[in-house]
Amino acid sequence: MIIAIDGPAGSGKSSTARAVAARLGITYLDTGAMYRAITLKCLRLGISSQDTEALAKLTSQTVISFTGVPPESRIWMDGEDVSTQIRSDEVTRNVSDYCAPSVVREALVKQQREIGKNNSVVCEGRDIATVVFPDADLKIYMVASVEERARRRQKDFENLGVHKSIEELKEEISLRDHKDSTRKNSPLQKAAGAEELDTTGMTLESQIEYIVNKATALIQAKSAVAK
Ligand code: DC
Repeated sequence: MIIAIDGPAGSGKSSTARAVAARLGITYLDTGAMYRAITLKCLRLGISSQDTEALAKLTSQTVISFTGVPPESRIWMDGEDVSTQIRSDEVTRNVSDYCAPSVVREALVKQQREIGKNNSVVCEGRDIATVVFPDADLKIYMVASVEERARRRQKDFENLGVHKSIEELKEEISLRDHKDSTRKNSPLQKAAGAEELDTTGMTLESQIEYIVNKATALIQAKSAVAK
């Protein structure tokens, strides 16, 4: 079973997808973390997001893997645990530029499909139901108001010991939304057959319940057909 969850930054995808995977006992695939890992490596090496040749080489030579199950899962880049570094402010501000080139997207989409080939997964990102797994069993497009998403981001940053104003975060989120949804390659958009879930005002628990119930109904329907 493939559950595809797409949506803009701060819509609640990650926390929801992580918990849904844990409840159903299936793999959680955070594709944003993969784009963040490539961004981190490029920033460390001083590679520009415009340098297509260097980006292609770097992406093909980078080994990204995941270990553990949520909430203990870790992401590794070339054998280094980068789970914390990929959430830094610098990576967050630059990732929209590094995830846009097709050389980066094609290589990472290939890896994502490979993971989904032999596993049941909850996969979250921006192009999961449109590009990576267009035949996903369940497609959810999560949205929330910019104000609400800024409040959630502020909490995340506070957990990292960084204070940012709501106004500053609203601006950053709007800029990232604009870049992610207007880029040429695989822009963020609602896929055909995807169900929109507006999480503004919803609790995390109710978001999780909503998707787990949908997935459980699908699993039961599949097993009834198989009998
Ligand atoms: O979900 P996130 O904030 O960790 O994602 C980081 C960036 O990666 C985001 O700006 C958009 C990009 N992204 C993407 O282009 N495609 C995906 N499937 C996942 C993330």
